Amino acid sequence: MKITKSHTAQYTAPSNIALVKYWGKQAHQIPENASISFTLKKCLTNTRIVVTPKLNEKQFIQVFFEGKMNEKFVPKIQKMFHEIHSILPWILSIDVEIHTENTFPHSSGIASSASSMCALAACLVDIHGQVYGIEQEQLNHILISEIARLGSGSAARSVYPRIALWGHVNSIKHSSNKYAIDINEILHEHFADYCDAILIVSNKEKSVSSTAGHSLMKNNSYATARYAQANKNCEKLISILQSGDEQAFVTLVEREALTLHALMMASEPSFMLFESETIQIIKSIQAFRRETNLSLCFTLDAGPNVHILYSKRIKKEVEYFIETQLKPFCYEGRVLYDELGLGIEKIKI
Ligand code: DP6
Repeated sequence: MKITKSHTAQYTAPSNIALVKYWGKQAHQIPENASISFTLKKCLTNTRIVVTPKLNEKQFIQVFFEGKMNEKFVPKIQKMFHEIHSILPWILSIDVEIHTENTFPHSSGIASSASSMCALAACLVDIHGQVYGIEQEQLNHILISEIARLGSGSAARSVYPRIALWGHVNSIKHSSNKYAIDINEILHEHFADYCDAILIVSNKEKSVSSTAGHSLMKNNSYATARYAQANKNCEKLISILQSGDEQAFVTLVEREALTLHALMMASEPSFMLFESETIQIIKSIQAFRRETNLSLCFTLDAGPNVHILYSKRIKKEVEYFIETQLKPFCYEGRVLYDELGLGIEKIKI
């Protein structure tokens, strides 16, 4: 299948923060365990792509990141195109120009692969609809999620509003390792207005890429137990999200974050991704919670920055605490205040 003319599409896609972490994968981006994440609102990637029939034997992929040509992203996109060839048969017969930018600061240390791969997947599925004359409404989010997964695992979850589940769990019928699904129907109102304050401890690039990190799980002695625990935590979190039990939420989410870092410390070679400020922030949050009984909790990606999750009901108290007590631990006092958002959005061009 070849395309005969030029096509273009533009989407924004959000970043997401995992509550139960994906850490460990098999071939073709099949996760070793299920994961659940909150979708963010303000941390977005905006991507426009233009595809044209391929001129030469070699495929021409050009990426412009924030207006400047950037070759760093090309190998990952090339790999993704080969992976999705069986789903989008025209993908290797095109030349492509990708224009992409993030709403969050370039050097904030926030992983952008979830939002960028999800935005790219949404554009590609849109163009698939144009090529085959399929109405946009009929192109489903599951297809976008599956393609996003083949670009970056966590990107599969960025498609949906507020909350997504990726990976098979017994209690959710249509859950799958191939794509994420929308689980908004289980979300208790206590969690529907959650905020995420992202405390930037360091703006440096990650010292271990996610892909390298996942592969370290292959020889990690705790791997089998971890995958079983993560699947169990997904089941537990689903019932917590249904019941609205914020205390149980705090316990589970913090344990997941610390387990992710414990796994990295126990890998060979070992990685310690905390900075001393990360630990000071975590301890301050725990002390503040003891003093106030407010249900706020922290979570972490594979890096030193800290995400603080809390309901809008306690926004005033938590944000005063962050501004007065935690900001000094942040790189240049940087905090990004985000909240649950609505997933991908098509931009009319
Ligand atoms: C720690 O999705 O970035 O953020 O599939 O290799 O692109 P690749 O990895 P990636 O891994 C994310 C790991 C994590 C946890 C999570 O988001 O679930």
